Amino acid sequence: MEPAARTAVRLVVADTIWRPLLWLAAERRYVGRRTDVEVIRGKQARLRRNAATHCLRAMSEAHRQHWDRRYREGGVAPVLQVPPPLPAFAHVDHLFPTRGQVLEIACGRGRGAVWLASRGLTYWGVDVSPVAIDLARRLVELSGVARRCRFDVIDLDAGLPDGESVDLVLCYLFRDFRLDCAMVDRLVPGGLLAVAVRSEVGVGPEEFPDGSQRARPGELREAFGHLEILDEGEGEGIARILARKPG
Ligand SMILES: C[S@@+](CC[C@H](N)C(=O)[O-])C[C@H]1O[C@@H](n2cnc3c(N)ncnc32)[C@H](O)[C@@H]1O
Repeated sequence: MEPAARTAVRLVVADTIWRPLLWLAAERRYVGRRTDVEVIRGKQARLRRNAATHCLRAMSEAHRQHWDRRYREGGVAPVLQVPPPLPAFAHVDHLFPTRGQVLEIACGRGRGAVWLASRGLTYWGVDVSPVAIDLARRLVELSGVARRCRFDVIDLDAGLPDGESVDLVLCYLFRDFRLDCAMVDRLVPGGLLAVAVRSEVGVGPEEFPDGSQRARPGELREAFGHLEILDEGEGEGIARILARKPG
């Protein structure tokens, strides 16, 4: 095939910094199947890096506004007497701990919080949307588990927030492969990682044009297969994995 026809995306990478990204790009694992990579150096790299930083900030702000709008429309989630597990993990609810600390990234309006805090865990949820965080605080208050919960507005584009090691890291319907290592690192030995994301598996190709956020088939196993896998699956547009960090 002609190179011009093949190239849908051109990724420019400074060789001084994003070496892991360069490697991933070269592997074509996360940047799309039709990506060309150009490596740049020195002043040119610095200039383009600054431009990229501005661009990322603008994207973050756009994301935040999008989610703020959606959460404002939705309001506080229903308060239930027995908060149910998150659907992708309902069948393995019994494998989740009943004490210890949990960090949930991109926690939304708190449905993971009421589930886990009701089980007895001490919960910390972070999300980029202040509206979501406000709704989550109200939900745990109304659900009677606020004393075990903490929430903070955090932009995960800057990485995981600093904090102590935890017994469980939960990431539900949010995917940023740059956080994969940090999520595992944050676990105590023997701790659990629970990730469920939108997946290409089981939905029509119109649902995942180039550049969509859906995980590719096998992506979670590739990312977390070095852990002890307790449960995994992909289908109907959702991929999930529950895995234990070796003790
Ligand atoms: C599909 S929702 C899932 C929310 C929650 N986990 C749930 O299942 O109810 C995706 C969440 O990711 C959050 N999010 C998107 N980009 C983010 C970022 N850069 N940093 C932190 N949170 C982000 C959004 O605000 C939103 O709450």
